[in-house]
Amino acid sequence: MKRSISGIQPSGVLHLGNYFGAIKQFIDNQDRYEGFYFIADYHSLTSLNNPEALRENSYNIVLDYLALGLDPKKSTIFLQSDVPEHTELAWLLSNVTPIGLLERGHSYKDKIAKGIAPNTGLLTYPILMAADILIYDSDVVPVGKDQKQHLEMARDIALKFNQQYQTELFKLPEPLILDSLAIIPGTDGQKMSKSYGNTINMFASKKELKKQIMSIVTDSTPLEEPKNPDNNIVKLYELFATKEQVEQMKRNFLAGNYGYGHAKNELLEIILEYFKEAREKREMLIQNPEYVNSILREGAIKARKIAQEKITLAKKVVGLLGNSYKYL
Ligand code: ADP
Ligand code: TRP
Repeated sequence: MKRSISGIQPSGVLHLGNYFGAIKQFIDNQDRYEGFYFIADYHSLTSLNNPEALRENSYNIVLDYLALGLDPKKSTIFLQSDVPEHTELAWLLSNVTPIGLLERGHSYKDKIAKGIAPNTGLLTYPILMAADILIYDSDVVPVGKDQKQHLEMARDIALKFNQQYQTELFKLPEPLILDSLAIIPGTDGQKMSKSYGNTINMFASKKELKKQIMSIVTDSTPLEEPKNPDNNIVKLYELFATKEQVEQMKRNFLAGNYGYGHAKNELLEIILEYFKEAREKREMLIQNPEYVNSILREGAIKARKIAQEKITLAKKVVGLLGNSYKYL
């Protein structure tokens, strides 16, 4: 069975963009691939330096994964930092990675432009991501479109290593990106992102969810006038509604006497309905931390075994292990 790997940073609370861009693919493909899905906690240190928040976010994402339908019997779920071999491999890979490759990173440049301090971790982020992927011989990596360049970098880094050491140690991974859902817009119309404060969080309380949906930016066309149906509310509604429901909403907008507030209420209802089961399951999981912890423990053991085998091979290839290790 081919292998699928992906991670999400615990840099905040998960949102519709994370679900439709990434997690839904993890879940829909559980019977097609052997899945490894982790919480990229090492990565989040590049932008988050609040230990309490890091712990809380990480645990919440595990709850989210399970509540949304990741099945620990089929997929391996773990914390990245429980498998320190990722960082060890990242160091080996960093020595075949040109700085220019990293400096061309869109995500790096965007974060700097947004005022995030340019620490070294932010620059070398794609190397650790490459290590996450290559250490498991991943075949596919389900991600949102914004991660496409990071995937290309992972392939470049794997190739460089293989060329440098005349080996075929690393498999070149393929991205799994759903083009139809390429980028989910946030409440302000930009890419929905934890770092932009424009998210709709499927596990927020009903009150909070309503507040987020009501904050979707619209124009000030008066209630009775027709409105352009090519708006943000419709774009989000389309993720949940049937074709007929979407057509109906568009007709309502074109007809007039249908306000953005009406549409937002419909959006709220459909989101609550869509995530009803997941929201209930999450409440149950909160009551059962022993179960959740056992999944992380087992996931870490399984992932680590594979990672340790691969790092041993990589160390041999570069000359860190070999004859000398008989006296270690
Ligand atoms: P964020 O931008 O909120 O910090 P992450 O970078 O942690 O999100 O992304 C986790 C996963 O969710 C990645 O696979 C990413 O491509 C996907 N993703 C995040 N935001 C969106 C979005 N607005 N549309 C589609 N996919 C997204
Ligand atoms: N960079 C990814 C993001 O921000 C998270 C991530 C870290 C990841 N390591 C990964 C995704 C490995 C896929 C595979 O969304």
